[in-house]
Amino acid sequence: MIPGPTPVPEKVLTALGKHPIGHRSKEFQSIVRHTSQQLKWLHQTTGDVLTITGSGTAAMEAGIINTLSRGDKVLCGDNGKFGERWVKVAKAFELEVEVIKAKWGHPLDPEDFQKALLDDKNKLIKAVIVTHSETSTGVINDLETISKHVRAHGAAITIADCVTSLGACNVPMDEWGLDVVASGSQKGYMVPPGLSFIAMSDRAWEAQQKSDLPKFYLDLNPYRKTASKDSNPFTPAVNIYFALEAALDMMQEEGLHSIFTRHARHCAATQAGMTAMGLPLFAEENHRSPAITAVAPQNIDAEELRKAVKEKFDILLAGGQDHLKGKVFRIGHLGFVSDRDVLTAIASIEATLHSLNLLNTQMGAGIAAAAKYF
Ligand SMILES: Cc1ncc(COP(=O)(O)O)c(C=O)c1O
Repeated sequence: MIPGPTPVPEKVLTALGKHPIGHRSKEFQSIVRHTSQQLKWLHQTTGDVLTITGSGTAAMEAGIINTLSRGDKVLCGDNGKFGERWVKVAKAFELEVEVIKAKWGHPLDPEDFQKALLDDKNKLIKAVIVTHSETSTGVINDLETISKHVRAHGAAITIADCVTSLGACNVPMDEWGLDVVASGSQKGYMVPPGLSFIAMSDRAWEAQQKSDLPKFYLDLNPYRKTASKDSNPFTPAVNIYFALEAALDMMQEEGLHSIFTRHARHCAATQAGMTAMGLPLFAEENHRSPAITAVAPQNIDAEELRKAVKEKFDILLAGGQDHLKGKVFRIGHLGFVSDRDVLTAIASIEATLHSLNLLNTQMGAGIAAAAKYF
């Protein structure tokens, strides 16, 4: 029950275990063709969605180095560990970074972006860079509204980390006017780690033609050229591609709406369970990510609880990051997760708290609240 790597369905594992095939073979080309179409469906875009062998951060870095140029000014949202990562990537390429912050556990305020963009009379801001689902805190940022403000600015593009939102909630890339969307296989995709994905709008490709930041492995031009021939510029992780095709087949069978509804249900049931157990939620109400619930138990060492849940029930919860270590634990309900998994996790947390003498509510209140919700 961590927010990635997420559980992998049997069908996907079986596909993964096939013997590798030549990445220039007709057989592999047909997998690339099929997965490209499936990825467009998932991103709700008519544009290109390219597959990179690497983790989500590779797609994030590709988004920056392919659309920006030396010294460009960017606005970067930072309300958690992954927002911080965007700032680090942008600074690594010596961009001029203006950081828009919110306290961990709180969402970014779209009005802060609007104000900075309206103040930018000379159109110096070239990109607005935002994490949609901030996995470190369980907050979902209002990417749709931020993107609207970017469109109104007219010159900047929107670069979004949708690593734990894609496949968990609605991210209609074209409808929201997003320009670059980055994600990774080990999250909502239900696939092991190894592939990342970058979707690019026409505006992003226009910026790509002008971009002068150094790049080679992550230069998206060769990816686009080879994608038009159902291929890759380099040897991709072919077995992860097998898994991806099988997982996207499953997702298409379930349907986007059902996937999003399932995640929303699991999120609401988890919140109900934690609240009924007297455990405060870390993320601000109405801004909670459907992929992950961050819990901030008072007077309880979250690391001790995590360790005991793992030992007693073999269920892994995620810990708090940086200053939240020991103060927060996080329950991932992203990807191949069922009602049963959620109920089991809640019951395990409740039973463990009881055994540690840390349960301050009536035994069974948490599981009852979640079951009632379901
Ligand atoms: C919001 C977010 N962004 C980016 C990443 C990318 O990380 P990685 O490069 O490890 O796939 C993660 C992974 O946990 C994430 O949750």
